[in-house]
Order: sequence, then C-alpha cells, then structure tokens
Amino acid sequence: MEIIKVGIVGAGTMGAGIAQRCAMHGYMVVLVDTNPETLDAAEAHIQKSLDRFIEKGTLSPEGRLDALAKIHRSTELKQISDCDLVIEAVPEKLEVKREIFSELDWMCPPETILASNTSSFSITRLALSTRHPERVLGLHFMNPAPLIDFVELVRGKETSEEVAEKGKQFARSLACEVIESKDAPGFIINRVLMPMVNEAIYALEAGVASVEDIDRAMVQGTHQPVGPLALADRIGLDVVLSILNTLHQELADERFRPCALLAEYVHQGRLGRKSGKGFYDYEKISPTKV
Ligand SMILES: NC(=O)c1ccc[n+]([C@@H]2O[C@H](COP(=O)([O-])OP(=O)(O)OC[C@H]3O[C@@H](n4cnc5c(N)ncnc54)[C@H](O)[C@@H]3O)[C@@H](O)[C@H]2O)c1
Repeated sequence: MEIIKVGIVGAGTMGAGIAQRCAMHGYMVVLVDTNPETLDAAEAHIQKSLDRFIEKGTLSPEGRLDALAKIHRSTELKQISDCDLVIEAVPEKLEVKREIFSELDWMCPPETILASNTSSFSITRLALSTRHPERVLGLHFMNPAPLIDFVELVRGKETSEEVAEKGKQFARSLACEVIESKDAPGFIINRVLMPMVNEAIYALEAGVASVEDIDRAMVQGTHQPVGPLALADRIGLDVVLSILNTLHQELADERFRPCALLAEYVHQGRLGRKSGKGFYDYEKISPTKV
C-alpha cells in the first residue's frame, strides 16, 4: 500500500514539526491532539517556521500555502482511521503510549503502519499493546523535525521486513537519512546524548560554571551547534527527565541517574522553551540568542 495520508498523534514540539515536514514533502496530514489550544499553537508554530523557509529562499509562497492546506487538525483520534501511516508523538509516558497504540490497533485496518516517535521506550513492548505487532516500528525524528534531516529507525521483535522497508522509504521520501538502531533503551541518539546533557546539569549544580558558560564552552570548545543546557530546554526538561529515568531503570546503571536539579525544575513546571522558562528565561531573552 502506498503511503499518501499520514496521521500524527500529539501536536506538541515533535508532532507539529513532523506534520510540517510531511506536508512539505507532499503528504496529506491529520494532526490530532486532545488539547485544542495545542493544535492552535501548532498551527501558529508551523506558519512561523514556513515563513523562515521563505525568508531563506528554500520555499515559495505557493509552497507554504500548499503545505498548510495539507494539514488537517482534529481533537478526535478517529479522524486518523483512514491514514496509511500513523506516527505517535504523545508525551514520553509508557502507559499513555500503550493506550494510544491499543486504540489505533482497533481503529486502523491491519495494513496501516503504526510508528512511534519515542525517544527511549522499547518498540517491542509498545507493539505488545496491539494485535498486530508486525506493523509497529520506531521512527525517531529529531528536534526541530523540519530542519534535521535524520531519522533513527527501530524494529521491534515482531516488526515485519515489509513494514521496516516501508518505514525506511517513507523517511527517505522526507529527505531524511535513516540509521537503524537495535531496540535498546534510548537507541543510539539518546543513549549517547543524554549522559552529556545530564552531566552538564550536574556541573551546573556543582557550581562548576554558569548556565551560559557551560553552554558557551561546549559550543566553542567542542563545535556543537548548541550547548547542552539550551538543548535540554529545546527538547523539554520533562522529556529529558523521562528519557533519563528510562535509561537509568532499564540499564540499571548509575551513569544515567537524573540530576536532582533537573527533577526539581520539572517539579516547578520549568520545562524549557515550551513553558517559557528552563535553564534560560525565554520571556527575558530571545530564543534565537541561545
Ligand atoms: N522534544 C524533543 O526534542 C523530542 C525529540 C525526539 C523525540 N521526542 C519524543 O517525541 C514524543 C513527543 O514529545 P514532545 O516533546 O513533542 O512532547 P510534548 O509534550 O511537546 O507534546 C505531546 C503532545 O501530546 C498531546 N497528547 C497527550 N495525550 C494525548 C492523547 N491521548 N491523544 C492525543 N494527543 C495527546 C499533548 O496534549 C501534547 O500536545 C515523546 O515520545 C518524546 O520522547 C521528543
């Protein structure tokens, strides 16, 4: 079955970005979120991002209109039932994701591919919530999804060869390079990235340097495009905490124990850019400055 229509569950940081990327590459998109305000915010965010593509000269005004027209928003999951591929991008909470997969499994015909954008959970375990584990796979997009041309592909134990191949072709059709990871906690990206982000928070907690100096040192000294604390704010501190908790529990390794300062910030609702404050205060500074 050819993929024409893509359903995306969750219109937060990742869902909105993935929807935009899919629409810009010609797919019809149904973007679902339980929160109507998030859907409005997603649309505003996508419009702004498309404007930046026009400013850079990589998108025409007609292309912008065309992409926007391809995205249909809804608060009802059932709107997704006739999609050829569904990408789940709800919060990094295992039970929430398992429930969505179970619902999707009953709602969509068996040939619909069900993908998760999870950062750290086992695809095999998510697939257990369905009656058709062979159609479940991991397609892990990066943030910001419209800008980073890369997808980590993960097969669960039961993922069929055909579904893995279609997932790969789909990601390539979005102009993304695809690298396959084993179904291990955090896959490649977060297994390697999260200890660095966590260590930057430990360094901050220990008073090694200020937020700005830790980031500046890592940008200047190691040629990273963005410092680890600014990156954590971009990812969302709640997401970072969930990923570290999964790595810590699943790998039973102290290297992944989340720093208490991170948990404290999440407890205070300091979630990074999406809440206006994380390691940086986005009400005081322009987000483009970090
Ligand atoms: N933030 C990142 O940098 C990043 C990068 C790669 C992967 N991921 C992964 O992508 C997924 C989403 O992360 P995010 O940062 O976009 O989270 P987010 O919190 O920004 O967005 C999640 C959205 O899901 C919605 N939602 C919750 N329950 C729902 C339901 N039952 N039905 C429909 N919508 C529902 C919420 O209203 C929210 O808008 C997570 O698994 C995360 O680990 C995140």
